[in-house]
Amino acid sequence: MLGCGGFVGSHLLDRCLSHGLGGAVPEVVGWDLDDRKIRHLVHHPNFIFRQGNCADPDARGQLLVDLRDADVVLNLAAICNPAQYNTQPYQVIRANFVDTFDTVQMCAEAGTWLLHFSTSEVYGRTLSSYVDDSYADPALYELEEDSTPLVMGPVANQRWSYACAKQLMERFIYGCHTEFGLRFTIVRPLNFFGPRMDFIPGREGEGVPRVLACFLGALLDRKPMLLVDGGMARRTIVGIGDAVDAVVRMLERPDAAANQVFNVGNRANEVTMRGLAEMMRRIYADVSGDVSYLSHPIEDVSSAEFYGAGYEDCDRRMPNLAKARRLLDWEPRMPLEDVLRETIQYYYEKYGTGRAAATRAA
Ligand SMILES: NC(=O)c1ccc[n+]([C@@H]2O[C@H](COP(=O)([O-])OP(=O)(O)OC[C@H]3O[C@@H](n4cnc5c(N)ncnc54)[C@H](O)[C@@H]3O)[C@@H](O)[C@H]2O)c1
Repeated sequence: MLGCGGFVGSHLLDRCLSHGLGGAVPEVVGWDLDDRKIRHLVHHPNFIFRQGNCADPDARGQLLVDLRDADVVLNLAAICNPAQYNTQPYQVIRANFVDTFDTVQMCAEAGTWLLHFSTSEVYGRTLSSYVDDSYADPALYELEEDSTPLVMGPVANQRWSYACAKQLMERFIYGCHTEFGLRFTIVRPLNFFGPRMDFIPGREGEGVPRVLACFLGALLDRKPMLLVDGGMARRTIVGIGDAVDAVVRMLERPDAAANQVFNVGNRANEVTMRGLAEMMRRIYADVSGDVSYLSHPIEDVSSAEFYGAGYEDCDRRMPNLAKARRLLDWEPRMPLEDVLRETIQYYYEKYGTGRAAATRAA
């Protein structure tokens, strides 16, 4: 598991090592630069942790041994932070394409199944957004793995550096499949949310994380929640537990998952970023027992101010999940309200200082 110490990797590890796969606890070799989210697992008897850069040429020998020995390689290692897409495109393209290139090639040579985490950003903007913005025709906005065109903006809009690097990596993996028989599965996550996502600015790291951690940081710090470009972009949010369940089903059904691309999302949990901010402050008020949060300030900011020049957003992401249902018998279950409540509760217990936290401490 490459990138096992991140948000998704840490939850996948938790699930595999505590519940097993197909009735047995697998042996997992994990690579990551960072161990902060998996410290509770590093001494697990079925887990070997290699703390380091899996793209470092000096690590290549060990990585090759690990990849050859494995039944499946899960590649989660990435830079996947929107604030870096247009400000550090070199690092973003390097991490998401160049650094993964050798891993894919080694899997192809070793005959090892590669389960690669791509992104729903490969779809770019919807066709609807170029036509009339009305979303009258689902064929122009619904995202289907094997038929929807992948539409991105101009090169100067460097926001697409991540999506484009991930898309090229998908094409490279598919090419290795058709030319060299690489067995692959590609996951396109649609906004996994849950505890341990990214970092809370000022507490767990510095900079601008993805939207969930941005809004949570603002609530914890009693600072305004900042809505980029009016907050009209829509996302479908899937709880990390449901998302991990989809991946576990892929691992448990290798024949069904082989050589497929899967959307992993939750159609029922669609929300605008403005709606998300409003829901989060309402739930935060409830969790903290502090009703003043019901009117916590939400402020507008332009994408140029927030992210810098060259930012352009994906307007909407409505996944078609028929393939995951048919091949994996998977259906996301957790409603958005519960996903947010679980996550806010987690962070409030960790960092909250309001009335409920004081009562708890007492
Ligand atoms: N969380 C989501 O909603 C979401 C959405 C779209 C795509 N994805 C994809 O899913 C994957 C996992 O996402 P995440 O949210 O867990 O991200 P994350 O940033 O929390 O985790 C990535 C991990 O990879 C590690 N890493 C990066 N480069 C490395 C290297 N060279 N060597 C060793 N470790 C390295 C990082 O230290 C980090 O712990 C990524 O590929 C991401 O692009 C996630």
